[in-house]
Amino acid sequence: MLSSLFSKKPASYGARIAPANVELKVGSKETLLQAALNQGIAFPHDCRAGGCGACKCRLVKGKVKELTDKSYILSAEELRDNYVLACQSIPRSDIEVDVELSDAATPVQTHQSPGRIIGLAPLTHDILQLTLALDRALPFTPGQYCELSPQDGPAAGVTRSYSFANVPDANGTSRNAEFFIRKVPGGQFTEWLFEQAKIGDSLDVAAPFGEFVLREASAPILCIAGGSGLAPVLSMLQGALQSQKRPREVMLILGVRSQRDLYMLDAIESLRREWPVGFDFMPILADEPAGSEWQGRRGMIVNHLAEVLGKSQGVPHAYLCGPPGMIDSCISTLEGSGVSAADIHFDKFLDQSHLAPAKKVA
Ligand code: FES
Repeated sequence: MLSSLFSKKPASYGARIAPANVELKVGSKETLLQAALNQGIAFPHDCRAGGCGACKCRLVKGKVKELTDKSYILSAEELRDNYVLACQSIPRSDIEVDVELSDAATPVQTHQSPGRIIGLAPLTHDILQLTLALDRALPFTPGQYCELSPQDGPAAGVTRSYSFANVPDANGTSRNAEFFIRKVPGGQFTEWLFEQAKIGDSLDVAAPFGEFVLREASAPILCIAGGSGLAPVLSMLQGALQSQKRPREVMLILGVRSQRDLYMLDAIESLRREWPVGFDFMPILADEPAGSEWQGRRGMIVNHLAEVLGKSQGVPHAYLCGPPGMIDSCISTLEGSGVSAADIHFDKFLDQSHLAPAKKVA
């Protein structure tokens, strides 16, 4: 009895992935997907935020703590068959799951480095620009994201995913990492970052992740960013400008709630000026008080898409980053307007506390 009162949770649990018969350790604060990717296992995934279902797997044995409600992603049959989302499942015992690995012969290469905070600057009332100096240069492509985990303090060991807002050097790596981070009320990571973190604090950084990167093409580029989803979009456009590949017309839409939520306007303006061909920027405010002096567009992004597509020089390729609702509504309108599903790329992030640990806050 006494021993059970004082027994501690194990620091990690074992996970076996069938049918490849791969075994791994999953830390007590890690999701199954995080552990698999960190250990170079090509576990299928996409959003890492419980929003796409790409990481679903059948829980054959053991128990997991689930971080989000999976019932709107999985079918009734999958729920009955005990499917879980690996990106939202933290083992609470040794487990076994059944899933076909993406390509066991090509493990995901994750790089890691400690990083030190060298910049913490407010961009809006609830978005911070975090800049890290990395001990080792990390490789990434504009649009990709990394995992951050504070080394000390109340959020030590908590892992959150954020998109890079900067661009790598010409060799594809960077010793600096920059992020736009929105405060999540009650969120362990952002409460620490906004209230206690200071210059010099250290985090562990793992990268690169995600496939939200600009594809080679000549079609116009339509970028749609919601809130802090601007980070990978700006990185992508800055990267395209620096790479000096064939210039393409750009339409950038930034959706936020009100004027006080607009940010990086100077950076967008210089990008617009330097862009060698057409570059339009359209901020859209969803909750700007009626009667304010705002002369720009109001309402939901999706309601302005027809006009944007009408002005485009051709059928654009679309890149969307923001909350799932915004992305889903825009995708259906884009597809309904003739944009091929293959030319719509998106990165959903969830910045509500109940959807926290995996991604993404762009
Ligand atoms: S739901 Fe897990 S990767 Fe998208």
